[in-house]
Amino acid sequence: MTLLRVDDDAFTNDFPNRTFALKHELANHPLLTLPRIVDLIRELPRDRLEYNSGRAAISQDPNATPLIDLAPVEIVRQIETCGAWMVLKQIETVPAYRALVEETLMSVARARGFATLHEAGFDEIEGFIFVSSPHSTTPFHADSDENFFFQIHGEKRFYVFDNRDRWIASDEALEAVVAKHRNLPYDPRYDVRQTPYRLFPGDGIFVPYQWPHYVRTAASHSISLSVTWKSAQVRRLNDLHIVNSMLRGLGFPQAVPGQNAAFDSVKLALFRTASTAVEPLRKSEAMRKLLRGLVLGKNANYYYRDGAKKDAEKKAA
Ligand SMILES: [Fe+2]
Repeated sequence: MTLLRVDDDAFTNDFPNRTFALKHELANHPLLTLPRIVDLIRELPRDRLEYNSGRAAISQDPNATPLIDLAPVEIVRQIETCGAWMVLKQIETVPAYRALVEETLMSVARARGFATLHEAGFDEIEGFIFVSSPHSTTPFHADSDENFFFQIHGEKRFYVFDNRDRWIASDEALEAVVAKHRNLPYDPRYDVRQTPYRLFPGDGIFVPYQWPHYVRTAASHSISLSVTWKSAQVRRLNDLHIVNSMLRGLGFPQAVPGQNAAFDSVKLALFRTASTAVEPLRKSEAMRKLLRGLVLGKNANYYYRDGAKKDAEKKAA
């Protein structure tokens, strides 16, 4: 079955360097309904769930994101009225969702003449489901992967910006979205540079690596699926951003990736040796939390902040 239809010209001319629109057949898929998503929440570990109020600003300081005091299952059940935004991460860890995510990308691979996902460049594949209330905002941010985004239910306005435009996001900011937090500051003067999409069920887009974007839902709740992957080039850039951020944090300013290829290779080799050594520990949620804190700093586990909700409510009151 072909789950995704993309104009040949878009792949020839734009992929993977520019954003473009696409059509898909996923809108009525049984794995993407609210009741099934409630079940999925119960199948995922806590650190695969992130949620907050949908009243976030476009330019949102991640440490001041407005929170919501509801259990994840209740957020999905009450999504039409509770004013929330939620993402379920790495849904491909659940076998049925892995099959869906892989079949989606295989549609692209086959259409482009490849026999396997790897041949087509689709490595480190992950899936994300977004569930959001009417009139909620996903703040301006950039993701460190390549992404097909599919609208499943409701309407979304999706505003994408070219990341080669350093007026919009500096080199340092693009390092921070890998090493610290994905959010970026937004200036309304950027409006003139946006590529706006109005997405209804059956619509989708391609979002290239680190192209900044913000998203708003319209008058009904929204369900979206995002299928991401990381090419070898993207993995290299991400690892270098993390090493550079760690070294910068120790007081050693770093050139951006690509400016000193030989030194990049040395840093990459050292980092990957260390990462391979700790990889078996990442099977445990507690160890993942500890490692994130060690590598990325004290705010790395920001989505474990249930205790902070009460503080936020007190401040808001
Ligand atoms: Fe995103």
